[in-house]
Amino acid sequence: MTHRTISIPAAAPVVSSFRCIACGVIRDNADHDFRCNDCGDLLEIFYPAWHSEQMATNAPGFKALWQQRKTSRRAIDESGVWRFRELLPALRDWDQAITLREGNTPLYNLPACARIAGVKQLHAKHQGMNPTGSFKDTGMTVAASFALQEGFRWVACASTGNTSASMAAYAARSAMRSLVVIPEGKVSWAKLSQALDYGALTCELRTDFDGCMRVLNEVVKQWPVCLLNSVNPYRIEGQKTGAIELLEQFDWQVPDHIIVPGGNLGNCSALGKALLELLDLGLITRTPTVSVIQAEGANTLLRSIREHGGKKLIPMQAQTAATAIRIGSPASWKKAVRVLQATGGTVEQASEIEIAQAKAEIGADGIGCEPASAVTLAGLKKLVKQGFVKQDDIVVLILTGHLLKDPEFTLKFHRGDLFKGTEYAQQAAALRSHQRAPVTLEPTADAVVKALEQAEKSIPHN
Ligand code: F0G
Repeated sequence: MTHRTISIPAAAPVVSSFRCIACGVIRDNADHDFRCNDCGDLLEIFYPAWHSEQMATNAPGFKALWQQRKTSRRAIDESGVWRFRELLPALRDWDQAITLREGNTPLYNLPACARIAGVKQLHAKHQGMNPTGSFKDTGMTVAASFALQEGFRWVACASTGNTSASMAAYAARSAMRSLVVIPEGKVSWAKLSQALDYGALTCELRTDFDGCMRVLNEVVKQWPVCLLNSVNPYRIEGQKTGAIELLEQFDWQVPDHIIVPGGNLGNCSALGKALLELLDLGLITRTPTVSVIQAEGANTLLRSIREHGGKKLIPMQAQTAATAIRIGSPASWKKAVRVLQATGGTVEQASEIEIAQAKAEIGADGIGCEPASAVTLAGLKKLVKQGFVKQDDIVVLILTGHLLKDPEFTLKFHRGDLFKGTEYAQQAAALRSHQRAPVTLEPTADAVVKALEQAEKSIPHN
């Protein structure tokens, strides 16, 4: 049998610079805090050569090239991030990329959730199926690889848990050491255990995520460490590939809506940047709307948009059991506002009860995710009711973290303990039909058969 090969010349190594998102100043280098020296705002990576003739000639061939790489055994081709390297900043040596074969995450349909939300086609892009169980790996492979290339011995992040787990893993795969700064008692033990196993120096501080970020910003001035929070624009570049891969999975047919949880707001910024770049390069002809859902107790972006037209953001003391997005002063809020404006998206919020219910509903579709990811379904239900999302629209939820990232939340939910002693205890009664607590029985077949009979009566058939 003969194999047909497609030979398309890869573009020359991608030349990139840093550009300030506020004053637009362009630089070749960034300081330790990845902020503009002139105005203090965030930097982004941009590609001056993208409007060149060479890019215009090569871009149409990218889709076939990216597809072709799926059959390659080269590590960077097996990575669902570096496979798209024509749209990433160039490493001096591609084969020095630190990769755990991240990306390559599945796109599932969610039939039961679609019925619940009131749309015909609902999909989940499950970024929790990344090597350390969250979307963070897609950005971390790029940012860690550049930190290594720059010769850093230490990398560091403040985290609600997933960034730290991911960073610690990528540092451990190379010669770098990692410093994790997390809020004591506010990170799920599953995530904490990852950082420990991957050998991070883990500092638990008696503060919240925002307090950890403040401390780390001081540390980076005093110790030569590469900051790997999502203010690091290389993280954003890697996270772009979630959207590129999604489009590829749709055979480049553009879905109508992408719905993403909002915490520090790096991920929605990255997905939006990817979509706008794909549009710019002519690889798609329109973008989906990108909408952000926040937890009600950490809804700074929502308030910024509704109360200040997206022009300012007032930090808050964040509070939610979806600890991954318990953030009161999101760093990338300006980038997020631009994405909402450029794609015509919106922002919604989900209450604690709504998050818990949505998580159980996604679980009942056989997929499962962590609480922060479930805000997407909770938000979608509202967007459908408001008419912002139409019944015939094709919708994609970005599930950012794996179910096993926060087992305590799930166990407490099913045992009916999640809201015990809280202000939501009464409302939580409405969640009973979603709860599946384990039953403790005598060790006999009779007892188990009785349980089966009981279950047959009580659980409706699909
Ligand atoms: N979902 C999960 C599972 C997360 O871990 C995070 C952020 C988000 C959503 C929000 O993404 O910050 O880009 O808006 N977790 C960070 C961390 C803050 O430290 O792990 P974002």
